[in-house]
Amino acid sequence: MNKRIVFATSNEGKMKEVRMILADLGMEILSMKQAGLQADIVEDGTTFEENARIKALAIQKLCRQQALSDENESGETIVLADDSGLEVDFLGGAPGIYSARYMGEETSYEVKNRAIIDKLSEAEGEERSARFVCAIAAALPDGEVLTARGTIEGQIGYEAAGEGGFGYDPIFYLPKRGLTTAQLLPEEKNEISHRGKALGAMKELLKGKLGDKR
Ligand code: IMP
Repeated sequence: MNKRIVFATSNEGKMKEVRMILADLGMEILSMKQAGLQADIVEDGTTFEENARIKALAIQKLCRQQALSDENESGETIVLADDSGLEVDFLGGAPGIYSARYMGEETSYEVKNRAIIDKLSEAEGEERSARFVCAIAAALPDGEVLTARGTIEGQIGYEAAGEGGFGYDPIFYLPKRGLTTAQLLPEEKNEISHRGKALGAMKELLKGKLGDKR
């Protein structure tokens, strides 16, 4: 039925993870660059799902325009887009959908992470609960949009630790492991991450849509 999946990201790390998880769908999986697409989309939704949906629909529109101008393209593209962030309960869910923009896009994560630790100076144990959230939207060729969500629960550490991962990983502490997500190997993080879970859930939804219940 559908020929290809375009994942709306320019991040190669994300693409690697996406290819690994979606491999058994047996579909061609392209990055924006590989699909010859470029876009600067305003993410003005109020939830992770809304933002993922806005991105997926905008890129699906570009794919249709591309198909119209290229006879070789079938236009049968499923566009996937994600939106993710960190929710800190003690901060009322902040930075949430503003995670990338928190304290300004140019501010280093060393500074952002320090600021979050400082804001939680009065919080103890369970009061430090936090989660990474990832929503993935799939814009199907017929206009339908599917969404899936994945989360990973943890706590804000008392100190930043670890060199792996990116963003808020050094302060995202997993009490059961006694480590932050920045201290996990990439494969270990992928297995339990919000993004891995959301992609897994989306894969099941897509299998259902493609009539393939393997
Ligand atoms: P985006 O969905 O790629 O735009 O990511 C949003 C922001 O959420 C990132 O810039 C990070 O600040 C934060 N974030 C999302 N996922 C992770 C993660 O796995 N580790 C650390 N930070 C993350």
